[in-house]
Amino acid sequence: MSEGLKTTLRYIKHSKECWSSPVNDAAVAALAPKLGEVVLDVGAGMGASVFAAAKLVGPSETGRVVVAEPNAVLMKVLMARRLAMGKNRITVELHQDGFDGLPAADDYIDAAIAVNVMHHVDDHATAASELARVVKPGGRVLLVDQDFGPDHGHDHSPEEFGYTLMNPEELGAELTKAGFAEVDTSITELAGSPVFAVSATR
Ligand SMILES: C[S@@+](CC[C@H](N)C(=O)[O-])C[C@H]1O[C@@H](n2cnc3c(N)ncnc32)[C@H](O)[C@@H]1O
Repeated sequence: MSEGLKTTLRYIKHSKECWSSPVNDAAVAALAPKLGEVVLDVGAGMGASVFAAAKLVGPSETGRVVVAEPNAVLMKVLMARRLAMGKNRITVELHQDGFDGLPAADDYIDAAIAVNVMHHVDDHATAASELARVVKPGGRVLLVDQDFGPDHGHDHSPEEFGYTLMNPEELGAELTKAGFAEVDTSITELAGSPVFAVSATR
């Protein structure tokens, strides 16, 4: 079985938490999107942060959530979920893209979030410079990974699945290099779950 398929099947197996979760809700609350803002969710999965953020930015003329999700199966789930929101609600733009080429014009985004994504991303320097390109001056980013180690009852430890957990200090240094300021690594838990996190302002 290919690694991509294996990972997708894991997402389906865990679709309850991928649908909505207290950690995503708390991450969105920490990002604090406001009515009318444009939020970017990178690696949105099944939309646990998307639909929480959407309720805060709209309905409004400008408010929208822009989604960058590279996985085609997850994109279908997002499309179905967006359809279920019905008309006359909040704009959710879906793009099958990832950190290597974010689907937004320069300085378009007020606030960007990625939850449980950075451990899938090898090139943090490109991710940081893409974020710096699309986030407008004064805009903010919040990147969060839960600590999936076995100590916390998860069954997908870094050792078993061969990924590297986010190092907030190193990622913060990449964000600084890319032009972000106010880099903050002080969030260590969200909704009672231990996390690695970095936030910054463009
Ligand atoms: C564990 S899921 C998290 C999904 C969602 N953010 C959540 O909190 O439920 C990891 C997500 O990262 C996405 N992903 C993997 N590599 C990526 C990349 N290079 N750029 C953007 N997203 C990526 C996957 O497709 C998947 O949607």
